[in-house]
Amino acid sequence: MRALKTAILSAALALGLAGAAQASEAVHLDKQNWPHSGVFGTIDKAAAQRGFQVYKEVCSACHSMRLVPIRTLAGIGFKDDELKALAAGYEVQAGPNDAGEMFMRPGLPADRFPSPFPNDNAARAANNGALPPDLSLIAKARVGGEDYIYSFLTGFEDPAPAGVNLMPGMNYNKVFPGHQVGMPNILQPDGVTYADGTKATVEQEAKDVSTFLTFVAEPHLDERKQMGVKVILFLLVLAGLMYASKRKLWSTLH
Ligand code: HEC
Repeated sequence: MRALKTAILSAALALGLAGAAQASEAVHLDKQNWPHSGVFGTIDKAAAQRGFQVYKEVCSACHSMRLVPIRTLAGIGFKDDELKALAAGYEVQAGPNDAGEMFMRPGLPADRFPSPFPNDNAARAANNGALPPDLSLIAKARVGGEDYIYSFLTGFEDPAPAGVNLMPGMNYNKVFPGHQVGMPNILQPDGVTYADGTKATVEQEAKDVSTFLTFVAEPHLDERKQMGVKVILFLLVLAGLMYASKRKLWSTLH
């Protein structure tokens, strides 16, 4: 019985592994050297700020980020007055007032980023039937994370490779599952003019916005890593102290 179970389990595992290997063979991600990867890595705040500029000026025409309060940007270096000014530039729905009506007011840092469309149907209607996903957690939601987002944004090919029949309104993308995507190739050289003077190539824009989306998906990543390092150091010191006191206590008993 036991042997049978083991056999079934290992067969299932082997199949699963084969499936996973196949899936990863299908796409080749253009892996980047991210300053935030690794145990000691931290988010490149300047890059994330540029990435926010790309989100604001390009992506936010179609994609919401509705789980993210505007003040989250304090984590990449926005000062209080900058956050207030930024928030005030958005209109958010509030209410109901005494008459029971909803009304619009200028945003506050505690508000979440307003969505470009009132609901999913409106978003689909404006995008040829495809729904632009909310970007709050996209860096966590896609296998490959920021490497996938970077590869996706730089992976459009026009015209599509020979032999590919695109459906009307669809675009060819190297890494998107099935390769036909409802999103147009949106990043252009100098599509944004960076406030810090960085040259806005397509690769630079893709890298910056991927860094920004990694940050919003996990705004406390840096602190979490720092805490981890502190905890390990503390445990090492504690282990040393315990060992020293054990030696001291037992030395009198011999
Ligand atoms: C003109 C509207 C439009 C703009 C602007 C736009 N997108 Fe999209 N995006 C879409 C649509 C529509 C989809 C869904 C495509 C589909 O499912 O076929 C999508 C899908 C995506 C996906 C998910 C891909 C996947 O694997 O499911 C990501 C990531 C993404 N967009 C990122 C961005 C970023 C970052 C920007 C800004 C640089 C941006 N988009 C700008 C319309 C847009």
